Amino acid sequence: MEEMPPSDKNSDTSRLIAPNPTSKTSYINLVGNVCALLCVCIVIYCCFASGVTLFSFHPSLMTLGWMVFMTSAINAITPGDLATEWMPIRLRSARHWVIQLLVGIIILIGFLVIISNKIIMDKPHFATLHSKFGLASLIFMITTMLGGLGALYSLKLKQYLAPIYMKLLHASVGLSTFCLGIITILLGLYSQWWQFGDTLRYTSMVLVLAVMLLTILRPLLKIYFRLKERLEYNN
Ligand code: HEM
Repeated sequence: MEEMPPSDKNSDTSRLIAPNPTSKTSYINLVGNVCALLCVCIVIYCCFASGVTLFSFHPSLMTLGWMVFMTSAINAITPGDLATEWMPIRLRSARHWVIQLLVGIIILIGFLVIISNKIIMDKPHFATLHSKFGLASLIFMITTMLGGLGALYSLKLKQYLAPIYMKLLHASVGLSTFCLGIITILLGLYSQWWQFGDTLRYTSMVLVLAVMLLTILRPLLKIYFRLKERLEYNN
C-alpha cells in the first residue's frame, strides 16, 4: 500500500483513501468475497435443511448481512479494491454508507427474528455468551453508524474534531465492530444448535476467520499509515 501525500487535517483532502487510485489493485477482497459467499451458503443450507422455521432466518440474515454486505461496505473504501477502485472517491463513499444502511436493516430484522422466536418459545433472553456478544455487536453497529454520520459531515464538525481524526475514529470503531460480529458468528457456529457435523462446522469457522483477516488487513494498514503520517507531520 502506497502512502498518501501529507494533507491538511482540517481540509477536504483529509481523506483516508487517496482521491486518485495510487495503490495497486488487490485480489484479497475478491478471495474474501468468495469465502463469505461459501460460508453463507453453508449456513443457509443448514438453517433450511430440515424445514423452514422462524429461527432459520436468524443465522441466515446475520451471516448474509455481516459477512457479505458489511465486507462489501468496508471494501468499498479500502484502497485497491478490485470492484470499486475505478470509482471516484465520492461514489465509493456513497456506496459505503448505502450498503452499510442496508446492513443495518438486515441485521435489525435478524435481531427481531431471534427476539420474537425466544418470546414465542418462552426462553430467557441474553443468557448465552453468543447472545451477549450479539447484543454488544448490535449496540456497536448502531454506534458506528452514528459515527459514520460524523465522518460524512466531518468538515461541518471540524470545530469539534479535525476531519482526519473523526474518520480515523470511525474507521477504528467500525473495524472493532466488524470483529465483534465475527466473534458472535463463531460463537453461534459453536452453539448447541449446530447439529450438522464437525466438518461443516470447522469449515464454516475457517471461512469466517479468513473473511475477517482478508477484510481488515488493508484498512488496518491504512489507519496505521495515516496515523503515523499525522504524528510525523505534527512533530
Ligand atoms: C453477527 C451476527 C449475529 C448476531 C449479532 C446475533 C445476535 C444474537 C442475539 C442478540 C441473540 C439472543 C437473543 C435473545 O436472547 O433474546 C442470538 C441468539 C441465537 N443466535 Fe445469533 N447472532 C448472530 C449470528 C448467529 C449465527 C451465525 C448463528 C448460527 C450459526 C446464530 C445462532 C443463534 C442461536 C442458536 C441463538 C439462540 C440461543 C442463544 O441465545 O444463544 N447466531 N443471536
